Amino acid sequence: MEEKVLIIDFGSQYTQLIARRLRELNVYSEIHPCTNLPSLDQQTKAVILSGSPYSVSDGLLPAIDLSMYRGKLPLLGVCYGAQYLAHANGGFVVPSKIREYGRANLSMVNDAVLFEGISLNSQVWMSHGDTIKEIPQGFETIASTSSVENAAFKINGEPTYGIQFHPEVTHSTDGKKLLFNFISKIAGLKQNWNPDHFIVAATQEIQDKIGTDKVIIGLSGGVDSSVAAILLKKAIDKQLIGIFIDNGLLRKDEFEQVLEAYNEMGLHVIGVDAKARFLNELKGISDPEQKRKTIGRVFIEVFEEEANKLEGIQWLAQGTIYPDVIESVSVKGPSATIKSHHNVGGLPEKMKLKIVEPLRMLFKDEVRNVGHALGIDEIILNRHPFPGPGLAIRILGDVSIEKVQILQEADAIFISELKAKNLYPQVWQAGAIFLPVQSVGVMGDERTYEHVICLRAVTSVDGMTADFCHLPHDFLSLVANRIINEVKGINRVVYDISSKPPATIEWE
Ligand code: XMP
Repeated sequence: MEEKVLIIDFGSQYTQLIARRLRELNVYSEIHPCTNLPSLDQQTKAVILSGSPYSVSDGLLPAIDLSMYRGKLPLLGVCYGAQYLAHANGGFVVPSKIREYGRANLSMVNDAVLFEGISLNSQVWMSHGDTIKEIPQGFETIASTSSVENAAFKINGEPTYGIQFHPEVTHSTDGKKLLFNFISKIAGLKQNWNPDHFIVAATQEIQDKIGTDKVIIGLSGGVDSSVAAILLKKAIDKQLIGIFIDNGLLRKDEFEQVLEAYNEMGLHVIGVDAKARFLNELKGISDPEQKRKTIGRVFIEVFEEEANKLEGIQWLAQGTIYPDVIESVSVKGPSATIKSHHNVGGLPEKMKLKIVEPLRMLFKDEVRNVGHALGIDEIILNRHPFPGPGLAIRILGDVSIEKVQILQEADAIFISELKAKNLYPQVWQAGAIFLPVQSVGVMGDERTYEHVICLRAVTSVDGMTADFCHLPHDFLSLVANRIINEVKGINRVVYDISSKPPATIEWE
């Protein structure tokens, strides 16, 4: 059995980041809510107490009994976790006069193992309203910043530590080193966990959960839903049925190519041609949110109709990944776990299906690593992100079949040239946008009055911020020439040089 770290969650927005950092250090961890502590087992080698939006003095979180862990296993309290240790042992935790939020630098570090290799001045990230004014007897301060004396402490005679900053956040520049010191030097974990281990554990979990039930999954050709489907197939094989809907707003030839790729991977996928229905419903709608809502609604209708043709489905699988979970929790509260623009939002309630989300703890790059370990084709794993509402939000204003066709042709030229010139992997996301303006041009001896295509290519880490891609001018010129010469209806091509923020990646 795996060695693991137990993370006790007090509700911090960063708890999952602790798990992620541990995975980066090849350590398996499990997050359990503070309201339901697991009993100690042989596999647990260390315990981490997370941060929290609450204060130790407001009584909103239950007091927990740490006696089964303390002194027996290395224990690290982070932020609220550290304050909890201090408070529960007779220290003084008080609201801090200035809210301690943001960057700070260590002004004192002693030679405790936890800080090995971390130098004075190292930047740490603070995010708390309370502060530990006085540590209890038997505690020793092992690091300070200019405004936080007890930035870190150790309890004498036991491997228990507390830190008031967040090592899991990348702004804490040596945070990963500190976590490494804790799990490796203090707890002695082997660090041999990898995506293959995730696959084994996830497969088992899916089998236990699903049993002999049947599951459907909506596929989009994207990385997340494809990896989720292959993982489920590995676990429950023929009990999984995929539904891939052609909404008429996909890239050129995408539906056929992706369907074929799924078949090659041995997935049982039903392809549904709903092009006409979507385009018909979109007729005359030019407001972006209205387009999104219409597409979402029709998607649900079509998906439901197809699913109803199948007998005895009990589960809906989703390719939800961790950023979707954070996004929805922070926006709508813990009960809502589906991103508002997630394609299948609303379906589970309507169809009375139970939800299975095997990737909900993973970040995008981890999903890709799992995909690699599952042997999924690079073509699927390295695809640029593509929005659920597809080309509808890249056609400004109302959508028509003619505009979709023009945009598909222009987009196909852009993407194929990016691939041919080996620029595709350097770009995070690229596509063409159909602008709702016409401009004058001249072709041969004739004056033209035709549409404008805008090219957009960005670099980004997670889509939250983005910079326009500095593509070579020769390349842009080649693509523009090809589009103007080959795509009827276009006489002008422009390149979007805006960053996000203040612009967004999509134009609508
Ligand atoms: P923005 O335009 O907000 O896009 O900078 C950030 C990322 O999100 C994608 N995006 C969407 N994806 N449904 C989706 O599934 C949507 O309605 C949607 N809007 C934006 C966008 O393509 C980019 O990757």
